[in-house]
Formats: sequence, C-alpha cells, structure tokens
Amino acid sequence: MRIICSETYEQMSAKAAGFIAAQIHTKPNSVIGLATGSTPIGIYQKLIKWYEEDWLSFSKCTTINLDEYCGLPADHPQSYAYFMHEHLLDHIDILPENAHLPNGLNEDIHAECEAYDNLVKSLGGIDLQLLGIGNNGHLGFNEPDDCFHMNTNCVNLTPETIKANSRFFGSEEAVPKKAFTLGIRPIAQAKRILMVVNGLHKAEIIYKSLFGPVTPRVPASILQIVPDLVVCGDAEALSVIVREHPEAVEMF
Ligand code: GLP
Repeated sequence: MRIICSETYEQMSAKAAGFIAAQIHTKPNSVIGLATGSTPIGIYQKLIKWYEEDWLSFSKCTTINLDEYCGLPADHPQSYAYFMHEHLLDHIDILPENAHLPNGLNEDIHAECEAYDNLVKSLGGIDLQLLGIGNNGHLGFNEPDDCFHMNTNCVNLTPETIKANSRFFGSEEAVPKKAFTLGIRPIAQAKRILMVVNGLHKAEIIYKSLFGPVTPRVPASILQIVPDLVVCGDAEALSVIVREHPEAVEMF
C-alpha cells in the first residue's frame, strides 16, 4: 500500500490523474474502473486537459463505472451516467460502446447484476479501479453491512448516504432509495486500485479503513488486503494517518 499526501486538492488530483495516464500509456487497451462523487472531478479535468493536449488517448480503453441509481434514466441530470458524460466521457475520445454503467432502468435486477459481472469477467477484470470513499466507508454503493456483498448487487442506500447525497438532489425525498453497485469481488480483484480522498470530514474514516479492523461494517477496510493499492489524499484527509502512522505516508 502506498499513501501519497499532497498539500492541496489540485495537487492530489494531478498526482492521481498521473497514475491513470501511466496505466493507459503502459497498456492502451486498459479496463479502467471509474467513480462518481465530487472527489474525482479534479482528476477528470486533468485527464481531459491531457487528451486535448494530445498527450493521452482513451481510444482503446474500456471504462466500467462503479454504480448507478435505480430508477433514474441515463439522461436524468442526477444519474451517474449523466455525471460521467458531463465530467469526462463527452470530452475524450473513448468509443461510446466502450463506456459502461449499470442500467438504472432495468427492472430485472438479477439480470442486470449478472450481466454487469459477466461484462467485467469477459473483459478480463479491471486493470485500474478508481475509488472515492463514502463518509461511512462505502465503496461504490457497497454500504456497511453484516457481510461483504461479493457480486454486483442492488442495495438499499443507508439514511446516512441518502442524506449525504441529497446535496445533489435538493432534498432527501428526491434521492433514489436503491442503487446498483459493482460488488466487492470485482473491485478488490482489480490489478491496481487508486483511491482518492480529500477534506477533513474524511480523515477519520480513511484512517479507520486503512488501519482499523477489516470488517464489512467499514467496506473500504477490504482495501487492506488488495495487492496493489495507491491512496492519494490531501493533507486534511490524511491528517489522522500522518499523525498516527507518519512512516506510512509519502509527502508529495
Ligand atoms: C457516492 C458514490 C461513491 C463515492 C461517494 C463519495 O456515494 N457512490 O462512489 O465515493 O459518493 O462522494 P464524494 O467524493 O462526493 O465525497
């Protein structure tokens, strides 16, 4: 595990984007797992800039998004499909057929989850998985629970997550109560995982995830056992880790 601490959000985003660019330069047909939330936006801005400068191409890449709200069509402004198009996909040269998200409108939940897992398998798994972390330690929408849910599944969002995500919907009532999420297995089996975290409000949960017990009550704690984990954070988010385990942190 590498933990890389940058002073600011911009520096953290540039550093993390560099890992994605390096992955694509090394293997142009990489399968990249993508995440939503506010944290990765700075990374996406960097990637778009490097594409515009002709330094990076996504033409051979495939992307697999982590999650999608149930019941939202792709053109709904709060759907994750919409988010990805707005913040990345519409601004780079990825082939539309190579950019994947769960279909939030599929009422056959079992079929949707199975198809998404089979898609990842057929691609040979994920080369680099980008992850944010929820305030409660969720990964994608894998919420704290009594067990890890290994396969892609449809989850009931916790009241905490509904509250946290209501900032995008205007009210808690407007937030969908269920979401599809890639399961823990395809996430943890990614050949490399790149987690990004910023802000003081994430300092305790990232510390607990990386240095506390591995437990489904803190889904991100599973990252302690993945073979290749890089965590890029800003100084605020990594403040507790820097205090408790300074030897574990690279300053950037
Ligand atoms: C959502 C997403 C997660 C993301 C989390 C954190 O719940 N499903 O994948 O990690 O938000 O979002 P933010 O980066 O805005 O804190």
